[in-house]
Amino acid sequence: MTFTEAKTLLETHGQGHVLAFWDTLDAARQEALLAQIATLDFAAIERMQTMLQEAGRPAAASSSFEPAPVEEPEGDALAAYVAKGEELLRNGKVAVLVVAGGQGSRLGYDGPKGAYPIGPVTDRSLFWFHARKILGLDLTYGTHVPFYVMTSDTNDAATRAHFEENGYFGLPREDVFFFVQGMWPALDPQGKIILDRPDHIFMSPDGHGGTLTALDRSGALDDMARRGIEQVFYFQVDNPMIAIADPSFVGLHAAKGSDMTLKVCKKRDGHESMGVVVIRDGQYAMVEYSELSDEQMERTNPDGSLWLAYGSPAIHMFSYAFLKAEAERHMPLHLAHKKIAYVDAEGKVIKPEKPNGYKFEKFIFDVIPNAKTLLTLAFDRTQEFSPVKNAEGNDSPATTRRDLQAKWRGWLAQAGVTVPEGLPVEIDPAYALDAAQLKAKGLLIG
Ligand code: UTP
Repeated sequence: MTFTEAKTLLETHGQGHVLAFWDTLDAARQEALLAQIATLDFAAIERMQTMLQEAGRPAAASSSFEPAPVEEPEGDALAAYVAKGEELLRNGKVAVLVVAGGQGSRLGYDGPKGAYPIGPVTDRSLFWFHARKILGLDLTYGTHVPFYVMTSDTNDAATRAHFEENGYFGLPREDVFFFVQGMWPALDPQGKIILDRPDHIFMSPDGHGGTLTALDRSGALDDMARRGIEQVFYFQVDNPMIAIADPSFVGLHAAKGSDMTLKVCKKRDGHESMGVVVIRDGQYAMVEYSELSDEQMERTNPDGSLWLAYGSPAIHMFSYAFLKAEAERHMPLHLAHKKIAYVDAEGKVIKPEKPNGYKFEKFIFDVIPNAKTLLTLAFDRTQEFSPVKNAEGNDSPATTRRDLQAKWRGWLAQAGVTVPEGLPVEIDPAYALDAAQLKAKGLLIG
């Protein structure tokens, strides 16, 4: 892109100020700024501006809804779903997708969150546990499960380096596909793009909903098609307890011809910050934690159980066809009022004390209302969910390690091994994906 092209493009969209400091920049900075301008998605920016103009109008969605029904298959039905899931895994029809483009600001770790050392004995990383589970699936089902890893500009190089340094954790390199999510500018209240330096537009990741566009643009969807993938398991990078593409989940979702299936678990209490899957105006939808009133969070059924008992920790199955169709649609935008460093008329960088601009994001769960068939499946959080979100307190490395220990000690007890109190344990998922596999294989203690 040349200066003249950039100027025309920006002025056409009322954003000519982006080049205000052009004459003060050296050639390298000018080039970097042009490269940034070339990535701007003006159609999306126009949607952001419209949203800013409309902010303050009442939300169209009705606030009355019912919790969505939850599947809890048992006995023969469960066995049939497991068999179906195993067949799909064996036939190479299942892919795994992790979203790891977030900034991990609450954890405050200097590196991609997926490289965070979580192994209680070995300090192995979150990515290590995920990749070794995929290797476990490969070995158990004699297959190659492809692993799609979404990063963002801020952590892509470091994430790839982490895989390289660790020999891809034993996975074949050709089965790991990295792709980078989009970045969006932020706007001031007048809809103008914010510069955080005279030579730089402030940009941040476009949210986990950006997965769909990024899957499409990067060629990941084409790669899935080439491999004959029919079902995609989606999860977030911060939960080392995750049961990746477990056959019952894959099987239920596929057997019922579902577009999207969400795993849901019992909330710790009504106020736990998890979204809930509901039926609103005859359609499935996710209601975010921040949208719930105290009354809705605390409401109970006649038997004393919570009305909104189940939360969604963003563990999903998608059919490939649904993902592909959704990648071609526009997703709704969500805006957040934030403090964003900006340059004043003289080019001085100002750090504001109050929110001064708007960041925009897309959320993956906004595809829910478009699903023709949607299911939710209950799971046991003591076995599958304990994320690393915060540096301390709930959902921190300490609670995740504690929960990993409790789970693995349980597996070892089922295999007839009692571990002395206080002795840390860790199980390589490539050796045993679950308690039954551990029991069947016996122990190799290292
Ligand atoms: P979170 O918002 O919980 O985690 O995102 P975060 O962004 O890593 O950390 P904070 O909020 O700054 O403390 C949940 C999941 O979605 C991914 C994250 O990597 C995480 O796996 N994510 C989030 C993306 O991939 N891209 C995004 O733009 C946002």
